[in-house]
Amino acid sequence: MSAVHAHVPTLAPAPAPRTIAVAAGDGIGPEIMGATLAVLSAADPGLRFEPVTVGLEAYRNGALSGFGPEVMAAITRHGALLKGPITTPQGGGYKSVNVSLRKSLGLYANLRPCVAYHPFIATRHPAMDVVIVRENEEDTYAGIEHRQSDEVYQCLKLITRPGCERIVRYAFEYARSHGRRKLTCMTKDNIMKLTDGLFHRVFDEIAAEYPDLAAEHMIIDIGTAKMAVDPERFDVVVAPNLYGDILSDVAAEVAGSIGIAPSSNIGRDCAMFEAVHGSAPDIAGRDLANPSGLLLSAVMMLVHLGRTQAATLVHNAWLRTIEDGVLTADMAGSGARPAVGTRAFAAAVIDRLGQAPRKLAAVDYPAQPAHAPLPAPTTPRTPAAKALVGVDVFVNWDRDQRNPDVLGRHLEAMGAPEWRLSLVTNRGVKVYPHGQAQTLCTDHWRCRFLAATPGSASPQAIAALLLRLHAGGLDAVKTENLYTFDGQPGYSQAQGE
Ligand code: NAI
Repeated sequence: MSAVHAHVPTLAPAPAPRTIAVAAGDGIGPEIMGATLAVLSAADPGLRFEPVTVGLEAYRNGALSGFGPEVMAAITRHGALLKGPITTPQGGGYKSVNVSLRKSLGLYANLRPCVAYHPFIATRHPAMDVVIVRENEEDTYAGIEHRQSDEVYQCLKLITRPGCERIVRYAFEYARSHGRRKLTCMTKDNIMKLTDGLFHRVFDEIAAEYPDLAAEHMIIDIGTAKMAVDPERFDVVVAPNLYGDILSDVAAEVAGSIGIAPSSNIGRDCAMFEAVHGSAPDIAGRDLANPSGLLLSAVMMLVHLGRTQAATLVHNAWLRTIEDGVLTADMAGSGARPAVGTRAFAAAVIDRLGQAPRKLAAVDYPAQPAHAPLPAPTTPRTPAAKALVGVDVFVNWDRDQRNPDVLGRHLEAMGAPEWRLSLVTNRGVKVYPHGQAQTLCTDHWRCRFLAATPGSASPQAIAALLLRLHAGGLDAVKTENLYTFDGQPGYSQAQGE
């Protein structure tokens, strides 16, 4: 890590010692980490850093996930990791450090504040000040994918009630403890009525417990468009994993330079803090990188650890630094403004510790921990009455010019007498009975069988059906049991059903 030389003022009595794990990372990582730790040491002399090896060096040492077991031990011991960006090697079975850390540490909440610093950093949205709270573990990121036929691949989108409750509650608690006023939930529940519908429903349920905060829901596509053109209308946004990923990149881009965006990944027992940007190999080792994204992530860490006095000190000094026109090249832009290097920027921040901005709003993090202990993650509920009513059998079938009527009649014969063929769909569109000739048919068919008499569906009857399909020359590649919960179907209805 590069050394930063600056005058370090004596500021406040040192708070209690606290150690955090620190991973410098790759590319510009060591430079921006050196700069960030210099500022932290000056502002909070009680902080201690335990360096851990994450990234290219760990990959080279044979750790396919990019970190060894000693890293997990250090993070668990200290409860916090400040991490530089990582270069993920291509191919070779290497896994992303971020995804591996999020999953192994249970870091379920990803927070990205996206703030404009007009007029000091160029932005088209001077009043933008948004925090995106992204669910970090579920959704299509569960990594459960299958190829089921020559033509068809699938990715399982898993949304759970405990997962929704945890992230939505976190978002409301965050908003309340950070003086925010409004939460916007974004989903696509007009299409994904069960999965996204659950996220939206949980949001509405939990919103009722926070009457002091305004709550609204938007469909993700229009919400993302509004974020791009009118971000000032948002305050805190909460979204499932994939939407949150895309939305937070849009918001960070709209806010201004990529070099300034911070993020945190919060779990029950530990948390990881890192800049949004990557390892920027194009400028590595040249004292050009902006340490602000990592430094502002470190401010989030200080707040998370309850070291709010130091957080206020560093954040205000950083605001004052950019206000004074001390900018790295990415913030200065292509205009006439001069730029400083990584180390000079950090030294300028250290010089301003104890000062507040004059034009930008100064921060003042409250002394109490920012996150009140979260309520129990799940709301006690009586489980719904679950009843098996049918089965969707997915069949890989590529015969008879893919004529759905041929397949449908075959299935009807094989389903009887226990099962009634309700319909056949291809890519979710009904093709039997009474399909449309225009529907594109692949080699992958969803065949819905319902119990011929109410209450007669059983695992044994499903097994017998599958054996009959096999004997009849059909390749059943997957099944989904159809249940009702308290009498309500726990499965989507097909288009045209
Ligand atoms: P990148 O964010 O590293 O760079 C994109 C552009 O932004 C480059 O022109 C770079 O010079 C500039 N830039 C980034 N950070 C900057 C900073 N602090 N100051 C000034 N300019 C900065 O994205 P890229 O090039 O797509 O990825 C490079 C590597 O980083 C890849 O191996 C990628 O996998 C990794 N990466 C790692 C992340 C992490 O560890 N959290 C996140 C994103 C990418």
